[in-house]
Amino acid sequence: MIGIFDSGVGGLTVARQIIKKLPEYQIIYFGDTARTPYGNKSKETIIKYAIQDTKFLLKNGAKIIVIACHTASAVAASELRKKFPDVPIFNVVKAGLIKAERVTKNKKVGIIGTRATIFSQVHENYLKKIDKDIKVYTEACPLIVPLVEEDWINRPETKKIVKFYLKPFRKEKIDTLVLACTHYPLAKEAIKKAIKRKINIIDPGEEVAKEVDLFLKNHPIIEKRLAKSKKHKFFVSDIPFKFQEFSEKILDQKIKVKQISLD
Ligand code: DGL
Repeated sequence: MIGIFDSGVGGLTVARQIIKKLPEYQIIYFGDTARTPYGNKSKETIIKYAIQDTKFLLKNGAKIIVIACHTASAVAASELRKKFPDVPIFNVVKAGLIKAERVTKNKKVGIIGTRATIFSQVHENYLKKIDKDIKVYTEACPLIVPLVEEDWINRPETKKIVKFYLKPFRKEKIDTLVLACTHYPLAKEAIKKAIKRKINIIDPGEEVAKEVDLFLKNHPIIEKRLAKSKKHKFFVSDIPFKFQEFSEKILDQKIKVKQISLD
């Protein structure tokens, strides 16, 4: 199975892209809903949780891991690679940035994400490594996650908040914006409107799905180990209010969710 984990429900936007790109493979998803959000937590805690999430997926049949959570990707991806050296591990940060570097013309790239993602500076560091002329502008936008989960995306209050967050990007005339948080693809229209110009908006979920696809084509031995089925498995550490409804809206299908404990 393709193992996917996130701090909660938002990672289903990444699962949705993987199911779309790789429809023949069975996925196993874990959302750490009891301990969400990761975006305001310390590095040590995020790493500890990401290791537990990965262990759970591997124990339950995952052969490769996709870190759907941008916060965990930014903060814990290298630790996970050290801890599980034999497991192919993909993350949304790298996938989104490779695309950003390819499409930017004026070399001004904006990144929006949670506080932990932005403060990690992983995006600037990575982009500078592949092209030192790229100017990176970042903004933590912590209010967008709860607004998306409340289904407030089309409310005037949300439009105002998004506009406020994106104001510095408008001034700097970025031509590419990376949605470095699982929830932001669900707010894409509001983000587009707030930017006011036509720019490249990158959904790293889509990019990581392409990366996994290419990897499987080039690694037939690993590809053969993956189960082929549409009966995807969804696990969470808590079932919060409206969880089912929100998940099914993202995935556009009915799902069965099982609650587990990581302790
Ligand atoms: N999944 C997180 C991310 O992509 C957003 C929610 C959280 O803060 O846990 O960064």
